This record gives sequence, structure tokens and C-alpha cells, in this order.
Amino acid sequence: MLALVARAAARPCGLLKQTPLNKVVGRFQLHQEALPPLPVPPLQQTLDRYLLALQPIISPEELSHTRELVAEFRKPGGVGERLQKGLERRARKTENWLSDWWLKTAYLEYRLPVVVHSSPGVVLPKQDFLDRQGQLRFAAKLIEGILDFKTMIDNETLPVEYMGGKPLCMNQYYQILSSCRIPGPKRDSIVNYAKGKKQSRHITVVHNFQFFELDVYNSDGSPLTADQLFIQLEKIWNTSLQTNKEPIGILTTNHRNSWAKAYNNLLKDKTNKESVRTIEKSICTVCLDAPMPRVSEDVYKSHVAAQMLHGGGSRLNSGNRWFDKTLQFIVAEDGSCGLVYEHAPSEGPPIVALVDHVVKFTKKAEMDKSPTVHLPMPKKLRFNITPEIKNDIEQAKQNLNIMVEDLDIKIWVFHQFGKGFPKSEKISPDAFIQLALQLAYYRMYGRACATYESASLRMFRLGRTDTIRSTSVHSLNFVQSMDSPDKSDQEKADLLRRATQAHREYTDMAIRGNAIDRHLLGLKLQAIEDLVSMPELFMDTAYAVAMHFNLSTSQVPAKTDCVMCFGPVVPDGYGVCYNPMEEHINFAISAFNSCADTNAARMAHYLEKALLDMRSLLQAAPKSKL
Ligand code: COA
Repeated sequence: MLALVARAAARPCGLLKQTPLNKVVGRFQLHQEALPPLPVPPLQQTLDRYLLALQPIISPEELSHTRELVAEFRKPGGVGERLQKGLERRARKTENWLSDWWLKTAYLEYRLPVVVHSSPGVVLPKQDFLDRQGQLRFAAKLIEGILDFKTMIDNETLPVEYMGGKPLCMNQYYQILSSCRIPGPKRDSIVNYAKGKKQSRHITVVHNFQFFELDVYNSDGSPLTADQLFIQLEKIWNTSLQTNKEPIGILTTNHRNSWAKAYNNLLKDKTNKESVRTIEKSICTVCLDAPMPRVSEDVYKSHVAAQMLHGGGSRLNSGNRWFDKTLQFIVAEDGSCGLVYEHAPSEGPPIVALVDHVVKFTKKAEMDKSPTVHLPMPKKLRFNITPEIKNDIEQAKQNLNIMVEDLDIKIWVFHQFGKGFPKSEKISPDAFIQLALQLAYYRMYGRACATYESASLRMFRLGRTDTIRSTSVHSLNFVQSMDSPDKSDQEKADLLRRATQAHREYTDMAIRGNAIDRHLLGLKLQAIEDLVSMPELFMDTAYAVAMHFNLSTSQVPAKTDCVMCFGPVVPDGYGVCYNPMEEHINFAISAFNSCADTNAARMAHYLEKALLDMRSLLQAAPKSKL
């Protein structure tokens, strides 16, 4: 998405107040207010498109049954129209009719652990240090970069992003620092300390499962330099040489209901409460990890991805995290690094924009020499562990280790070409990659499946995402033809091009707020809110099939040669994330070992073959007249 996003600085506006420190007071607010509200798509359009989307993934008999349900739902004066009116009323009364609902249903009320099931990781290129000095030096520069980015957020000077010439909602940038998820018995919540008198001044540093509060500002308000940060990190390192017996952070890996109970228990103690609040309030967390176990070059990146997603288990680095914290940068002693982030406040692109910024700082050769000022010792956060808390930690450890065993993750670089090739063929690279995923899946399973690709809704105020349904009648036509002896190369290439066009059309429709998934969800939630009985349409097997995303995918482009990764969203599915660079594509593919039918490495193998076969096909067949 950032590929289309021109990072242009916002035009200065006459109404804005300028302060001496280049702070642009009110710019964020003015920018936000100028954005259009998210539209409610027309009801009939969504229902027609829903039937079309079902065609490649359900049987003709099921489809004919669903047609009847749709016909009933869409009748003039029927339940569909009533719910649609409710949605339109909601849209008039709120800043964004979807955003609160989405935050709750997709994140805060989702009860599975955030680890693997929700929080994405980012794998950064391996750094060339191999010891503690290198680790701390890198971490110091990284923190300096984060603070520089934070200054742009605080001063409201962050460049506004554009997509297809349209300015984007910048709200997510204001939510990623100084925030934390808090577990609740039925629903979690998010706290944010980015603004006002309670604004955060510290980061949390974790080393050997021990947590520290590191104040990152001088008394005059200036951020600590990398040099100063290095000294402070060394102090932390030297006072936490032994691994803590109780990895308190492991509690955050648990099922949300269990964690909510353990959280209440933990916070009964005043010291524990203060320590937890300090972590929650901090700007972000920096995890100084123990070195990863040595593995061969070909599986190294996949192991780093696992470290980012879950920390490697209770015996490795999982206790060196607070998974509720929105942003956790991870720097291991062996040069492995990346981050994990809690998904509720933001999508990947703002996180990756921060990564691109921070990575520039880590490449700075020399650390700035700053005058020696005495800085206080960072405060160690203490925890009193009662037998009950110890028991909660033990349970969380067991559950986590099962999850660690279950995650099958493969990071893979496709070297043969990058987005340059589809572009040279006048094809959208994203559509090309999505179609390759369709082909790979079809070749593996002999059928198409419901496929989710994230589409940004940030053209609208407080916009998050909708779904691009990559499986279409056109994609199915192509994948069925690809290995068919009855079709010529020319026919296959024409079907390929037609399918990529259909994908691009769906993408354009989605980013303009006219996709079907969030609209259908809105109609369903409106029915719950109106206390009317649930329309049959949402109780239908076809609806369940449509929502069972065996392929959950996302493009998260970055300037840095990195890749984001996340777990599958269904037990028998794949999570696929990719960063298409000009000459190569970074892929992260995940699956669950407990599912006998899925295998990340096998999917990578089929995907590679699909990408290569599609290129050969286009090169063999002359350009079509489509
Ligand atoms: N011919 C030649 N070039 C083309 C082309 C065509 N037919 N179609 C697209 N391109 C070019 C684009 O101009 C762009 O060029 P650039 O690399 O110079 O910027 C590049 O190819 C990429 O375009 P495309 O592959 O079509 O993707 P996109 O940048 O439009 O992104 C989405 C598509 C769906 C990923 C994006 O719209 C989006 O919504 N991203 C959100 C992702 C997100 O939020 N993820 C959440 C993760 S938690």
C-alpha cells in the first residue's frame, strides 16, 4: 500500500498556528476533519457482489439456496432495507460507522491469545554484531530513531501520506506509541498516554525477563542521544545478568479470559500494580534478547520470525516480552532483530513506516558524542509473586509452549523477479502475486478457498481495512485452465490477464469503501443492536464458508528489506504476508502443525512454481487485446 502512498509533506495551511519549535498545532485535527467519512455501500450492490464472490467457493446447490435467502433479505420493505437504514443513521451520527465496531469485534472481544493469533511480527535484516556491545549500540540507535519519529508525531509534523493522489487518515500513527492493550473479562481495552500531562517519558527495557523503566528525556526535554542511551542500556544489562526465575511477561501470552483473571490477581499487590502501569504507560518496549539457538542459513529467517511472533517458548525469549504493549522492538545478542506489535491500534503500514525511519538511524556510523551528564540508574520494575501468580505463570507457560510447537512458519525470499516483472507486463504486481497464491492453492488442494487480502480504508476518516476477496470467478477460470491440456498458452495468458484486472477492480472498489465484507458485518451487527432476530442470510452455511479464510493474506510494502509475518486465522489455513521489492519478493507463510493438511514450506514451493509458471506463460504468449 505504501507503494502508492506518496509520502509528501502536507501543504502548509494559513489557519494553522506555528510555534517556535516548528510544532504545527492543530494540523493533525484539520487534516483529519477534511477527510471524507466512510460511505455505507448500496445494499443491492453488496448483495449482488456477495453472490458473485460465493460462486467460486461453494457448490451450485448451496448457491441456489443462498440466492433464495438473498432474495428474501433484499425485498422492498424487508429486513435488509431496515438494517441498511439503521446503518445509514449510524453513519450520520458517528465519525466512522465501522471503526468502533471493528475495533471491538476484530480485536478487543477476540479471546484467543494475541500471540500468533493476532499480533504480527516484522523480521529485519540480520545485523553484523555478535556481542553485547554491538547489541546495545544497535538498540541505542534504534531508540534514538523511535524518539525522532515520536517528535514528528508530537509536533504534528509527520508527513501526510497519499494513496492514488488522495490524502490518507493519519490517526493510526497517533495510536502506536505510548499505548497498551489491557485484558478484560469479556472485552479488552486500550490505554494511550501519547498526549497531555500524563504523556510518557520512558520506554520499557526487558533483559533476562527483568523489566526496567528507562527515562529517555533529559531534564530540558531533549531526547537522550544514542550515546547516552547506550550508557543507560549498559547499566540495565549489568544489573540483570541472571535470568529472572519468574517470567512474568509470559502471562500476556495467555487466552484473554485467563489473562484478564490473572491480571486482576496480579494487580492486587501495590508494587505489581505500579510496575504494570509503568509498562503500560511506556512509549514502547525494547527487548534485549538472548541469542537465538544456532540454525542453518536456510531456516535462519524462519526462526527469527518465530522469535518475533512468540519469542521461542518459555525457555527462550517469550518471557522477555509484554505482548499487550503496542510496539516491542526486539534486538538479540546474535544480531537477529525485528519487532512484534499488538494489532488493535494499527495496521502494518504505519508500523513499517516507523521501521523505515528507525532503520536509517541504526545505519548511522558513529554515535553522537554528547557531554557527560550524570543520568540516574534506570528503575527496575519489581513484582511480588504469590503462589497464585506463580500458578498462573506456569499455566501460561504450558499453553504458550503448545502454541510455539504448533506454529509452522516459513520466511522465504523469491529471488527470480520482483514487482518489476508484472509492471513490465502492465499488470498490477499485487494482483499478480495474489493470482499466484490462487494457483498455488488450487494445485495443492484441487479447489479454490475463501481468500482475504487487507485493503486500506484510510482514504476515509478513522478508516481501517476491508477485505479484497481474491478468489473470483475470473481467478478460478484461470487456475482451472493453467494445467489444462485443452487450453492454448494464449488462452491461458488471456485468462491470467483478465483475472489480474478483476483483482485490481476489486481492490479499487475496496479502497473506495465499496467492498462487501465490512458492509455485511455492519448489517449483522445492526441486527444485533436492533435486537431483531438474526437474518437467515447470516446463519447460512455459505456465509460461514465465505468467512472461513483458508488464505489470509496481506501486502505490507517497506523500503527496508524486511517482511511482516502473522499466523493463520483458521486452524486449517495459511497466513501469507509479502513485501514486493523491485527485484525480489519477501514472503512470510504460516500454518499450524496440528493441521495435517497444511504445510508452510509446501505452500512456499507451490507459490514459487506458480510465480515462475505465470511468468513463463506471459513471456510465451503475445500480449492480449484485452
Ligand atoms: N501496470 C504497471 N504498473 C502497475 C500496474 C499496471 N497495470 N498496476 C500497478 N502498478 C504499479 C503501481 O503504480 C505501483 O508502482 P510503484 O511501485 O512505483 O509505487 C506498484 O505497481 C504497486 O501497485 P500494486 O501492486 O497494484 O499495489 P498497490 O500499491 O496499489 O497496493 C494494496 C494494493 C491492496 C496492497 C493497497 O491498496 C492496500 O490497500 N494496502 C493496505 C495493506 C494493509 O493495510 N495491510 C494491513 C496489514 S496488517
